[in-house]
Amino acid sequence: MPAERSVGILGSGVVGQSLGRVFAKHGYRVRIGTRAPAKLEAWRSEIGAAASIGSFAEAASFAPLLVVATHGAGTEPALDLAGPARFDGKLVIDATNPLDFSHGMPPGLFVGMTDSLGERVQRKLPGARVVKCFNTVSSLKMADPTFARGPVRLFICGNDPAAKQEVDALVRELGWAGTIDVGGIEAARWLEALVPLWVRVGQALGTFEHAFDVVR
Ligand SMILES: NC(=O)c1ccc[n+]([C@@H]2O[C@H](COP(=O)([O-])OP(=O)(O)OC[C@H]3O[C@@H](n4cnc5c(N)ncnc54)[C@H](OP(=O)(O)O)[C@@H]3O)[C@@H](O)[C@H]2O)c1
Repeated sequence: MPAERSVGILGSGVVGQSLGRVFAKHGYRVRIGTRAPAKLEAWRSEIGAAASIGSFAEAASFAPLLVVATHGAGTEPALDLAGPARFDGKLVIDATNPLDFSHGMPPGLFVGMTDSLGERVQRKLPGARVVKCFNTVSSLKMADPTFARGPVRLFICGNDPAAKQEVDALVRELGWAGTIDVGGIEAARWLEALVPLWVRVGQALGTFEHAFDVVR
């Protein structure tokens, strides 16, 4: 019998719920961390026995595989609440974006060019193997990553080559065509910068179910 697999997700929004849905569909036990468990009751009922809800600390303790899917400006506070030592040695997928809506839509970024939220996450979790992934695609496609033109690859970056290979295998299992590795965690500056562009492209095309891939 295969070993039971599990994932802890910090973040109760559409990203945390969508990724929780797709992980459960592929046989993972999923615990979502939040400060407000009541908001996840419908999600838990939908997923059933594979789903559980906890605090950020309980989600971070739940599994060797973790996903950070918190609001950009709330990400570092959420990691503080979770307790950075709980991430030590773990594979941590960072799906966050430092979006700045202070001037309305479309958003800008509150950090960029010389730093990124991905780097801040890695600095906050020095013992973790952080891989930036999923930040450039819509939550609408996370539970069912099918596209009219065929499977799409996800952009990733991070400092640990083995961790990036693990993420590549994982996203293939979840239905993606694989990954495009654009470098160390400092490359998160440019993956995060794709997102204000992604919003502008969505506004121009009238869809928010698009994704970026590379053609040649
Ligand atoms: N929406 C998309 O399609 C999409 C796609 C790719 C990446 N992303 C990125 O993924 C992340 C999650 O997006 P989302 O739309 O699912 O949810 P969101 O509304 O951006 O974030 C919700 C989560 O952030 C936590 N949070 C907010 N402020 C906090 C604070 N001050 N301290 C601690 N925790 C705080 C909330 O905690 P509680 O649970 O306690 O309320 C909740 O778990 C964002 O960084 C977003 O940019 C979004």
